[in-house]
Amino acid sequence: TGMFTYDPGFTSTGSCESKITYIDGDKGVLLHRGYPIEDLAENCDFMEVAYLLLKGELPNAQQKEKFEYDITHHTMVHEQLTKFYSGFRRDAHPMAVMCGVVGALSAFYHDSTDINDPRHRMVASYRLIAKMPTIAAWAYKYSVGQPFIYPRNDLRYAEDFLHLMFATPCEKYEVNPVLSRAMDRILILHADHEQNASTSTVRLAGSSGANPFACIAAGIASLWGPAHGGANEAVLKMLTEIGDKKNIPEYVKRAKDKDDPFRLMGFGHRVYKNYDPRAKIMAKTCHEVLAELGMGNEPLLEVAMELEKIALEDEYFVEKKLYPNVDFYSGIIFRAMGIPVSMFTCLFALARTTGWIAQWNEMIEDPAQKIGRPRQLYTGHTTREFVPMHKRG
Ligand code: CMC
Repeated sequence: TGMFTYDPGFTSTGSCESKITYIDGDKGVLLHRGYPIEDLAENCDFMEVAYLLLKGELPNAQQKEKFEYDITHHTMVHEQLTKFYSGFRRDAHPMAVMCGVVGALSAFYHDSTDINDPRHRMVASYRLIAKMPTIAAWAYKYSVGQPFIYPRNDLRYAEDFLHLMFATPCEKYEVNPVLSRAMDRILILHADHEQNASTSTVRLAGSSGANPFACIAAGIASLWGPAHGGANEAVLKMLTEIGDKKNIPEYVKRAKDKDDPFRLMGFGHRVYKNYDPRAKIMAKTCHEVLAELGMGNEPLLEVAMELEKIALEDEYFVEKKLYPNVDFYSGIIFRAMGIPVSMFTCLFALARTTGWIAQWNEMIEDPAQKIGRPRQLYTGHTTREFVPMHKRG
C-alpha cells in the first residue's frame, strides 16, 4: 500500500503510548497502572481506582479524602441542564439522552476549560466523574416520570448513584451495603480497558483540541453499539429470549451458522483469547448479589451458566477462543438490583468516563501526539469527464 498500512478495524495498529492499562489477551491478564484487576476489585472502592487511573498511584487515606471531597463538590449539575431532559420524549433510549446531555455540558464549561492548563483539565475531569451518576440517574428518572433526586454528598460514589436512581421525595431510602459494594465492583470492572472503540473515539475527538465534555459525548456514542458497551443490554435480551435451558442448543447452533448474523452476545473479544478476567469477578459478584436478594434460583442465571458451559465445550467456540466477556454477567446483576435493561449501557458509560478522561489527559500531555488522521485506500473512480445535466441518464 505504499505510504501506509491498510488495517481495517485497527487490528494491528498502535495509536499511542500509554501507562494506564495493560492487557495480556492470551493469558487473560488486566492491570491498571500495574495492579491486577482482581486486587483492585477486591480491595478498593471506585474512587480509589478513579484516582489511580487519573493520577497514576493509589491514594493514601488523606489523598483519598481530598479526592472524594473534590469529586463530591462537583456532583450537582447546572439547574438549567434539567431543561435538556424535558426536550426528549419520555420513551427515548437513555443512551440517546446521555449523548445529548453530556454533549450539552460542553456549553456550560466552554470558556472555563483551557485544555493546555493542567488545573483546568483536572477540574474538567472531576466535573465529569462527579456529574455522570447524576446525569445517568436523571435519564432514568425522566423515563419513568419521577422527579429528579439531588446528589447526597455524605454518601459514597456508588451509594449516591443508587440513591439518585431509587430514592423518591416521599420515602426514606436506605442503601443496601451489599448492593453498593457490588455497584462499586461493577464500576471498577468497567473503569478502563485501554484503546477500545470508545476510548479511541475520545482520544481521536480530543486530538483536534476539542472541548473534553464534547469528547466524552463522542465516547458515549461509540460505546452504545451492541458490539461494544451495548452488549450488556443485548445479553439480557438474548437470555430472556432463550428463556429456558432446553432452547440453548438452538441458539448455539445459530451462533455457529455462517449464514445467520446472530452472535452469542457477551462472548468474544478483540484482545482476550482467554477468559476475560472481568467476567470471572462479575460471575462471582452475580452469585453474591442474587444470594443477598434471595434470588438464588433466578432462571436467567441458570440459562447464562448453562450457556457458558455448553459454549465453552463446543469446538467452534474453543477453536475461535470465544469466552464470556465483561458484559455477560453484568446485566443479570443490574436487573436483580432493579435497574431497567435500557439503563445498562449508561452504567457502563458512567464507569468508563473515568478511563476516558484519564486517557484524554494522558494524550494531551503526550508531546508525541498529533491530530488523529487515518489514511484510506481509495477504491472509487479515477478522474473522469464531467457530464452536464442534460446528458445524464
Ligand atoms: N458468537 C459467535 N461467533 C463469534 C462471536 C460470537 N459472540 N464473536 C466472534 N465470533 C466469530 C466471528 O464470526 C468470526 O468468525 P470467522 O473468523 O469464522 O469469520 C470470529 O469469531 C472472529 O470474530 P470477529 O468479529 O472477526 O472478531 P472481532 O475482534 O472483530 O470482534 C467482538 C470482537 C467483541 C465485536 C465480537 O466477538 C462480538 O461481536 N461479540 C459479541 C458482542 C459482545 O459481546 N461485545 C462486547 C465486547 S467486550 C466489552 C465491550 O466492549 O463492551
